[in-house]
Amino acid sequence: MAVLSRRHLHRRAERSAVRAASGDPGRATGTGTGRALAEPTDATGTDPAGGGSATPAVRHRPDPERPIGLHFPNNFRWGAATSAYQIEGAAKEDGRGESVWDTFSHTPGRTRGGDTGDVAADHYHRYGHDLDLMRELGLHSYRFSISWPRIQPDGTGQPNRRGLDFYRRLVAGLLERGIEPMATLFHWDLPQALQDLGGWEQRDVAYRFAEYAQILFRALGSEVPVWLTINEPKTVVQNGYLSGHHAPGRPDADAAYLVAHHLQLAHGLAVQALRAERAACRIGPALNLHPCYPADGSPAAAAAARLYDGYENRLYLDPIFLASYPADVLADLGPASRLAGGIHDGDLDVIAEPIDLLAVQYYTPFYVAADGSTVRRWPTSEADWQQIHPDGMFDALTRVHREYGTVPITITENGLPTPDRLAADGSVDDPGRVAFLRDHLAAVHRAISTGVNVESYHVWSLLDNFEWAEGYQQRWGLIYVDYPTQRRILKRSAHWYRRVIAENAI
Ligand code: FCB
Repeated sequence: MAVLSRRHLHRRAERSAVRAASGDPGRATGTGTGRALAEPTDATGTDPAGGGSATPAVRHRPDPERPIGLHFPNNFRWGAATSAYQIEGAAKEDGRGESVWDTFSHTPGRTRGGDTGDVAADHYHRYGHDLDLMRELGLHSYRFSISWPRIQPDGTGQPNRRGLDFYRRLVAGLLERGIEPMATLFHWDLPQALQDLGGWEQRDVAYRFAEYAQILFRALGSEVPVWLTINEPKTVVQNGYLSGHHAPGRPDADAAYLVAHHLQLAHGLAVQALRAERAACRIGPALNLHPCYPADGSPAAAAAARLYDGYENRLYLDPIFLASYPADVLADLGPASRLAGGIHDGDLDVIAEPIDLLAVQYYTPFYVAADGSTVRRWPTSEADWQQIHPDGMFDALTRVHREYGTVPITITENGLPTPDRLAADGSVDDPGRVAFLRDHLAAVHRAISTGVNVESYHVWSLLDNFEWAEGYQQRWGLIYVDYPTQRRILKRSAHWYRRVIAENAI
């Protein structure tokens, strides 16, 4: 098993090298071709792992907007999500330092078309209008991230007041409009100065992160009721280090899992920092969960899927909820791994500091063959790593509930890119997004009906934005951004979502 999975890790790295050589920055570990999503899921067939469970099927429905009569609990909260580097722009303003994503996107060949976040959706200047659009949609909650290099340009020391002021204005603007702020502390834009010292491979960076978190808790703790620590540590591990097609672009499998530990240590230290402030706000991690199903009924596929699940999910869930790393993953990495060597006494107690809520992000499942490779089973979106499988949402949510307890869950990301075009009449028609969101919301509804405590849902994303190595080609927003003019246009999905929120039903 160990041999197979290491081989698999190397295959991932090779695939990404091939992508880089062919000028396709790629995204994750998918094997698809990037075919566009035309309509909702229509896949059929049996599922050895039970992944084909029965979310009320919505197949070939001609009108994706037709209500299907599912009402959400009265206190359910509807939102949308973004992250700093993907929308803010203003890369050099008001004392902001450089982040690893500035460096990475400015390095030739790293992003599609050489795109950078220098301007992005210019949200730094247009946030007032964006806040108005959020109110127009009727959002209850807005999940955004804070740019560490705006707050501490070099990653340490006194806060940059102008950076803090931007987030103070943003939060005040949300509260004025009756929208609850949900702030992510780290959505991948590590200050470059800390990367120059070794970045997340250095244990010390976790302690720097806790200091940065403390600055924010003191500045905004009374206005921001929910804080999220680290966004998708796994994506940093896999894309930043395993394959290297995200910043910092350092393919090194051994470093990758040490980074996983330090990211989680940083999470735990931030939770402790919040507790030390005795602030009334809640805090938790943001994890992207991927159900891993065996691709066939063989015992070998079941074993391979189990280990794959270890790397995708349990490596991040177990330390937080169970104060331990999964034994199968540790064994697979071997006793000489940098992860094994990097765990100090007491670290797991820090990581397992009790959380108030778990932020779940769901995009795609994995189907794992007996040899540890993944196979494509469902239609993909424009993101070739994403297979459209709404039941995976149900499986991810119920799995947390079953195996890790009754922690409240907020869904902080779910969405897809569609081939959106601004029509001559000024509209943007994205029925594929409406169908996708409706089907995934039906799965959320079903999870709630079985007793999972899901309190809110955020679409990824509020706005079209800089999709990392994919640049601006993929459009993930409810709101279309016409980049040359920075004009915002509500897509059909945004109008639909406004009705969903108003009716609290799909
Ligand atoms: C998630 C990221 C988010 C965005 C979506 C499409 O993994 O957290 O920033 O890129 O994928």
